[in-house]
Amino acid sequence: MQPSSVWALKPLADMSAAEFHAWQTLLEERTGLVINEQRRAFLQTSLSARMRELDVADYASYYQQVTDGPRGAVEWSTLLDRLTVQETRFFRHPASFALLQDYLRERLEREPAGAPWALWSVGCSSGEEPYSLAISAAEVLRESAAPEHFGVTGTDISLSALGKAREGVYAARKLEQLDESLGARYFAAQDDGRFKVIPSLAARVCCARLNVLELAKAPMSGMDVIFCQNLLIYFRRWRRREILNRLAERLAPGGLLVVGVGEVVGWQHPDLVPVANDQVLAFTRKG
Ligand SMILES: C[S@@+](CC[C@H](N)C(=O)[O-])C[C@H]1O[C@@H](n2cnc3c(N)ncnc32)[C@H](O)[C@@H]1O
Repeated sequence: MQPSSVWALKPLADMSAAEFHAWQTLLEERTGLVINEQRRAFLQTSLSARMRELDVADYASYYQQVTDGPRGAVEWSTLLDRLTVQETRFFRHPASFALLQDYLRERLEREPAGAPWALWSVGCSSGEEPYSLAISAAEVLRESAAPEHFGVTGTDISLSALGKAREGVYAARKLEQLDESLGARYFAAQDDGRFKVIPSLAARVCCARLNVLELAKAPMSGMDVIFCQNLLIYFRRWRRREILNRLAERLAPGGLLVVGVGEVVGWQHPDLVPVANDQVLAFTRKG
């Protein structure tokens, strides 16, 4: 590592307990994300890196800047990209996608001429999850030569992640996470060696900014499938349950909610029935 990059990773100075508390509170109030003591170094390093770019010398001045009106909102959006974990993969939890495909096959058999399926990826990051949902639906419909009748919505708090999701262009190594035949069917090679989602699939996926703490403002309702994985783990337990309660309300009767395994323990909802599958954490809404 170059000496300059070592320097860039070094926090400016240790935060005081009061400063740490102020940043923790701001982040949790605005996003739900909890920065505990173990992640204090991560917070300091991330803030320091941004403060160096802006030539801001101390945490308190930067806090002032981030919380100061419309200009602060722009800076907040930049900072958020540094503080959120955006790691994702195509078909990240294979068992969840296998369950989804079984569920969609069954739906198609039961209602061959039903309304178009509405699927939702909550915390969609750079798009791998919503495109995996779209590929799953497209594959199920293709198997039975049914018309492509579905739409996927991806929502996230990070504008830069949403930008990547909308662009739908991925490095070749990202496609290694996909079955080769799916890569060939749903992606087109670009001149720069990357791969772009084909237009017919991209047209079925729409990405929008939504803070999961503001679900009350979200227009989604009557969703057939909701995926919420690797987002709630960063939140407090009571908040996880509250968000799941709100998501449950957005499901159509018979709809499927898929959560990351272990992300919520002991949560129940009067309208939902747990899916019997020990590899997946999922629920269906009573019809
Ligand atoms: C680790 S990624 C998970 C991506 C995908 N769901 C998966 O399982 O691979 C978590 C995503 O949640 C987003 N996020 C964090 N806080 C959020 C909030 N309050 N509202 C909406 N999205 C949020 C982050 O920006 C990030 O893209």
